[in-house]
Amino acid sequence: MFTFIVNGNRIETQQEKNLLAFLRDDLRLTSVKDGCNEGACGTCTVLIDGKKVKACIPKLSSLEGKSVVTVEGLSEREKAIYVHCFSEAGAVQCGYCIPGMVISAKSLLDTKLNPTREEVKQAIKGNLCRCTGYIKIEEAILKAADLFRDNLPIPPRETEALLNKRFKRVDAEEKILGTGEFVDDIVVPNMIYAKALRSKYPRAIINKIDVSKALTHHDCVRILTEKDVPNKKIGHLVMDWDVIIPEGGTTRYIGDALALVATNHKETLDEVLSLIEVDYTELTPVTCPTDALRADAPLIHEQGNIMRKEVLKRGNADQAIKNSKYIVTRKYKTPFNDHAFMEPECAIAMPEGDDGLLLYTGSQSVYDERHEISHMLGIPEEKVHCQSKLVGGGFGGKEDMSVQHHAALMAWYTKKPVKVKFSRQESLNYHTKRHAMDMEFTTACDENGILTGMKAVLIADTGAYASLGGPVLQRACTHAAGPYNYQNIDILGLSVYTNNVIGGAYRGFGVTQSCFATENNINLLAEMVGISPWEIRYRNAIRPGQVLPNGQVADPNCAMVECLEAIKDVYESSPYTGIACAFKNSGTGVGLKDIGRCLLSVENGIVHIRTSAACMGQGIATMCTHMVCQETGLDPALTYHERPDTVRTPNTGTSTASRQTVLTGEATRRAAEKLSAELKIGKKLADLEGQEFYGEFSAITDPMGSPKESPVSHVSYSYGAQVVILDKQGKVEKVVAAYDVGTPVNIQSVEGQIEGGIIMGLGFALTEDFPVKNGYPTVKFGTIGLMRAPDAPMVEIKLVQSKGEKLPYAFGAKGVGELCLIPTSPACSHAYYRFDGKFRTSLPLKETYYKK
Ligand code: FES
Ligand code: FES
Repeated sequence: MFTFIVNGNRIETQQEKNLLAFLRDDLRLTSVKDGCNEGACGTCTVLIDGKKVKACIPKLSSLEGKSVVTVEGLSEREKAIYVHCFSEAGAVQCGYCIPGMVISAKSLLDTKLNPTREEVKQAIKGNLCRCTGYIKIEEAILKAADLFRDNLPIPPRETEALLNKRFKRVDAEEKILGTGEFVDDIVVPNMIYAKALRSKYPRAIINKIDVSKALTHHDCVRILTEKDVPNKKIGHLVMDWDVIIPEGGTTRYIGDALALVATNHKETLDEVLSLIEVDYTELTPVTCPTDALRADAPLIHEQGNIMRKEVLKRGNADQAIKNSKYIVTRKYKTPFNDHAFMEPECAIAMPEGDDGLLLYTGSQSVYDERHEISHMLGIPEEKVHCQSKLVGGGFGGKEDMSVQHHAALMAWYTKKPVKVKFSRQESLNYHTKRHAMDMEFTTACDENGILTGMKAVLIADTGAYASLGGPVLQRACTHAAGPYNYQNIDILGLSVYTNNVIGGAYRGFGVTQSCFATENNINLLAEMVGISPWEIRYRNAIRPGQVLPNGQVADPNCAMVECLEAIKDVYESSPYTGIACAFKNSGTGVGLKDIGRCLLSVENGIVHIRTSAACMGQGIATMCTHMVCQETGLDPALTYHERPDTVRTPNTGTSTASRQTVLTGEATRRAAEKLSAELKIGKKLADLEGQEFYGEFSAITDPMGSPKESPVSHVSYSYGAQVVILDKQGKVEKVVAAYDVGTPVNIQSVEGQIEGGIIMGLGFALTEDFPVKNGYPTVKFGTIGLMRAPDAPMVEIKLVQSKGEKLPYAFGAKGVGELCLIPTSPACSHAYYRFDGKFRTSLPLKETYYKK
């Protein structure tokens, strides 16, 4: 028997398990999160006898006589201060890391009420945050120190939510206190657990799968194989992904499922899986696109190894380059990269009604899941009801299904609630990655540094399945020439199947890779011309009315030049600065259906904001609240944002392509305009009880290859320029970023997106890697290279806007989520080039302060 205290309550137990499992499963304390269960992330941080400890490490037997404190055990005053300070600072995005951060803050502030920023950084260095870049978390803790030290009152809540004004996130409190529900926080009566058996080899013939022994295990409820799957393939855009590989089939990567096991207790899943006998014939995997493109390469999919080919031509690049004074050709290489969202994937599916299914999920679109699951089961879409819970980060990595379809399939057969949850290692090994790319870029200019033309070949490793590889390649190509004014381009892109991990959507969506190549080439051209890298960009920067390399005329709201002007001084302030520019589309564009929808309903005197836009941390609920309150003048306390739900909220498409602020923002504004019209004629909310107001916005664009002289590829673009400053040791001291994101909707959110994106971009450039050897990932979460607070430099943000007309949608707001990290890696490589004269062409950059 072990006896200890948790949040002031005496606990007696005979169980021997780790503290994290006990706190979550037995005491249902949901502020303590399971981000890795291996001591790497800090989402499980608690205090034991006043010292911060990761709860996934100690066993209950080590706690005899000790006292454990979680966020639930803080005093009311402490809770109120942390809620205020973290909200006010904008320190909360997805929120998954935040309760752990609060505990680390408490451990510092319990002993020191006037800490320095450096001390705060040290206090939270065991806590990873993938969203915020730490800066706002540090500010929140410093602010909390002030309130505790000086016993200050907590300011009242805001009564307005207006554009470009400070306003606290509407979902901050539940995330800070850990009361908001992520899927893994939910326990449904009679719930069982499921897990897939994965392939031992990246490429192997599955001769036989024998589940007979596994079925005899006392805790086994059911085992499903491919024969049990009505429609065998799923896929977000291309249905090429096997739900379960059949006997006689050939695996394509180590994440392929061979069987799906359900047990009554999650602790027995691995035992049952280990009893399944699989007879494999191991085959040599195809582990690089060059090999996959050989004429004699084995086919990974029947239709061939080229998943997608993109050809973009405009003008005459060959001739323009031939006639140019200066020409640069270089090869570049960028690696796979993991999203490393803090919340590993988890879903619960259960029967609903006579013949339907209810799915609790945390993803980037409930409607995409409804579509794919109903297809898999061969049932009408209306029979699949998908509800989103809080989403602990996504960054593109939660666009494809990972656990949802397996939960749905098992629930369909067992008629029981089924939870499927990835361990952190499963998450690393099986979900999609940023595409590794090999690129060759040729860029040319005249004697004055005016860009004349470019040619590029981009080869993307899309791994075993298509995922979002098609559009990722397309965006890499459409943005490959950069935000500059020239029209001779010739770009070939190939996205190639291999037996590696799957390449999919990831913040930046291919542009992160092509921007690295094009910006580095431009630095070499500047050197040849004898002008500064800032100057060559300024001479060529796209201006309103000029034509982008993809043929689209830049809108009056384009402020690329203003971004460059805003960072000129800082670029010239040190010999160790590096510069880069970028642009990024908002909206899916290229002639595809791109619709935002919102329904406002007045229920019990409150305006319910109903839209399926997924918030993975970026702040959808707050953005929509601003749209409603700006349009109607309502107090935000009179609004309530509902989470995505295929029954309650209209389909507003996937949270991807930096589209939700423009598309769903404008749809929400339009719905609010209708509500406002009623309020303006003197009606009160009470008079409108039960009424609904619908807003829809469809962005009309032209398809790729449109014969139009000036096709509209995307409804809008955001622009930015970044300067990375190194200190004398070659460590990044500061990043200064000037961005044109149109009208900032919520100032804390815009800054938070930019700071977090830049730290993520620095990780991609300097510290992170995702090596895959012969088809096997070789990383652990603790060694993946994520930046921690003490490594994260200061970020200075300059928001600029054009003096021209604003985008006529969503009050002139444009996307910010992806743009922020795109220029970071070329700005870093440029800074190091100036620092030591070595021109680096691959990521992560080598021979730096960060990597040998
Ligand atoms: S869950 Fe304990 S450190 Fe990650
Ligand atoms: S807010 Fe820190 S991980 Fe999302």
